[in-house]
Amino acid sequence: MTRRSILVYHPKPGEAQAYARLIKQPKPPLEVAVCATPAEALPHTADAEILYAWNFPRALLPRAAKLRWVQNMGAGVERLILPELPQRVRVTRVAGIFGPWMAEYVLGWCLWLTQRTELFRAQQRERRWRPADPLRLHGATLCVIGLGDIGRAIAGAARAFGMRVVGVTRSGRKVAGVGRVHQTRDIQKALAVADFVALTVPLTDTTRGLIGAPELAFMRPSAWLINIARGPVVDEAALLEALRVHRLGGAVLDVFNEEPLPQDHPLWKLDNVVITPHISGPSTPGEIAPIFNDNLRRYLGGRALRYEVDRARGY
Ligand code: OXD
Repeated sequence: MTRRSILVYHPKPGEAQAYARLIKQPKPPLEVAVCATPAEALPHTADAEILYAWNFPRALLPRAAKLRWVQNMGAGVERLILPELPQRVRVTRVAGIFGPWMAEYVLGWCLWLTQRTELFRAQQRERRWRPADPLRLHGATLCVIGLGDIGRAIAGAARAFGMRVVGVTRSGRKVAGVGRVHQTRDIQKALAVADFVALTVPLTDTTRGLIGAPELAFMRPSAWLINIARGPVVDEAALLEALRVHRLGGAVLDVFNEEPLPQDHPLWKLDNVVITPHISGPSTPGEIAPIFNDNLRRYLGGRALRYEVDRARGY
């Protein structure tokens, strides 16, 4: 009889090994295959009952005949919730750990702007002493679109700096620490009052293209858009145009339609854009292992899994 097995997949071989090392094996232990390329994963896919993965190759999903549960190593599951993944397969995501990372990212870039970091570093290089007052985050308004655990952590950090926080969610229900929460259909009301807009929604059929030309037009000309969600949440052509004509203050972008961002992409050339390579909420084996190990116990014991994705909803 073949043993029940876990396929650990991460495109970086060292990471795949690190995730596998932190698995707390039950008794009797499960077979573990550790793979970093589609070719390595191919011979193990048909036997895997559990997949513990980041960016698992889509083409292999139809071969996963025994698969019952996928633990995603990140928050966003749009690359797993695909027609190729049989309906019987349960999917769990990571929640509760990226908020503090992403709050530092968002507030860090807000401060980069208000503390005029580029200006003073440029002046320093030229040994020029030319005072200019910093701007203030205190009293400025941050609009957080998507108030899950990540959005709420960002809102909390912003309030610690004395910022006003408004939010946008599907329901528009009140969220502690957020001044006003608007329903998605009233998104323009939140955009119009914001100095910074942070996107934290999952990519689903309803959030694809959520920020297009009309929404960008509602933003203040001095406002900055911070996208830490997924590239396709924003209409990239509309954003490029708004940035080119300075219809917006600027954009801090950690996610893109195509990653890595192609060398010849026009976004690289714009001075009012900050580009970071999808690093705002890093997945680290040490933080994710406790979630996997807890879910593994639950799965083997037939209990409810934590952070299970509602496949119909897409998150
Ligand atoms: C994630 C990510 O989904 O890193 O966790 O983008």
